[in-house]
Amino acid sequence: MPLPDAAAVASQIAAFEAELAQSKTSRDASAVRDRYLGRKNSVVASWMQMIAAAPADQKRAIGRFANELKQAIEERWTRYLETSTQIDRPAGAVDVTLPGRLPLLGHRHPLTIIRDQLEEIFTRMAFTVVEGPEAEDEWHCFDALNMPEEHPARDMQDTLYLASPLPGDSASDHRTLLRTHTSSMQIRYMQAHTPPVRIVVPGRVYRRDDLDLTHSPAFAQIEGLAVGEGLSLSDLKGTLLEFARQMFAPTLRLRFRPSFFPYTEPSAEIDLSCRQCEGAGCAMCKKTGWIELGGCGMVHPAVFEAVGYDPERYTGFAWGIGIERIAILRYQVEDIRLFYENDLRFLEQFPY
Ligand code: DAH
Repeated sequence: MPLPDAAAVASQIAAFEAELAQSKTSRDASAVRDRYLGRKNSVVASWMQMIAAAPADQKRAIGRFANELKQAIEERWTRYLETSTQIDRPAGAVDVTLPGRLPLLGHRHPLTIIRDQLEEIFTRMAFTVVEGPEAEDEWHCFDALNMPEEHPARDMQDTLYLASPLPGDSASDHRTLLRTHTSSMQIRYMQAHTPPVRIVVPGRVYRRDDLDLTHSPAFAQIEGLAVGEGLSLSDLKGTLLEFARQMFAPTLRLRFRPSFFPYTEPSAEIDLSCRQCEGAGCAMCKKTGWIELGGCGMVHPAVFEAVGYDPERYTGFAWGIGIERIAILRYQVEDIRLFYENDLRFLEQFPY
C-alpha cells in the first residue's frame, strides 16, 4: 500500500461517504463503518499499523494523516447517525444493531511509560525507588556534592534560584533553588539512612535553558546510588549494562568515556551503541555510532564525609541519566518538545 498522504485521506473520505450513501439498512451502514474504523483490518487500523512500520523520519507525517482520516470518518459517521432516517425500522424504535459508542480511553504519557519501566527494571535489581524535593537548597545540590561556592563546576550548571527560603529551613545562609540534578537526593537519602544503600531517584530537574530540539528548562532524570562495602566500578558497569539491555535490546553495547564530576572519582560518561545505524554512523548519533545517556562514577570520599559515612569503610557508585533521552532513543522521537506540547495526535501514538 502506498504511504498515506493528503490525497489518500481525501479519496478514502470520499469512498466512505459514497458507500455510506449506498447502504440501505443500518446493518449495511454499520458494516461500512467497520470496514473503515474497525479495530482490525479496517482502513484506519492498517494506516495505524503503517506508523509502526514506517521509517523514523516519516512516522510523524503518517501519524498525522492517519489521525486526520480517523477523525474525519468518525465525524461523518456521527453526522450520519444523527441525520439518517433509519429506513429499516419503524419510527421511534431503538436500533439494537448499532454499534455502541466506545468511550475514549485515557492512557499514560510516553514519559510516564518510560519512567514506570525504569522503576520496574531497577526494582528488579533490588533498588528502592525514592523521591525528593524539586525546590532545594544550595548545600544539598552543590556543597555536599563536593562543589563549593568557588568550584568551577558550579558554573557549568545554569541554575534557577528561588526568591524565598524553603519552609522550615533553618540554615538560611543557603540560597534556595530549583534542583539542577537529582544528585541532591543522594545527600538527603544518605543523611537519613545508614549503609547499605541502593536507591533510584526519578524526578524533575530545572536549568536555565531555552526550549529547543534537544533542550528543555525542565526535564526528568533518574539518579542511582549504591553504597556498601567492597562495591567497585565493575558493579556499576554491570548494573548499567543490565539496565540498558532490559530497556533497549540484549545486543546493545555500553561504553564508559572518562569524564569529570566533582562528586565521583573516577567519573565517566555513559554511551550506548546507536540502534538506528548499528554503529555505522547516522544523524541520530551524529555519525559517531554512540549516543550519550548520562554520567556516572564511584562516589567521591568527600561526599561520604559530608553525610557522615566513613570513606575508609564504604565505597559506592552513582549515575544520573535523562529520562527524555531514553524516551527519545526508545521511540525514535527527534524533537524533545513533542513530549511537552500535549498534542493528542502525538500522544495517541503511545496507547499503553
Ligand atoms: N548530575 C549529573 C548531571 O546532572 C549526572 C551525574 C553524573 C549523576 C555522575 C551522578 C554521577 O550520580 O555519578 O548531568
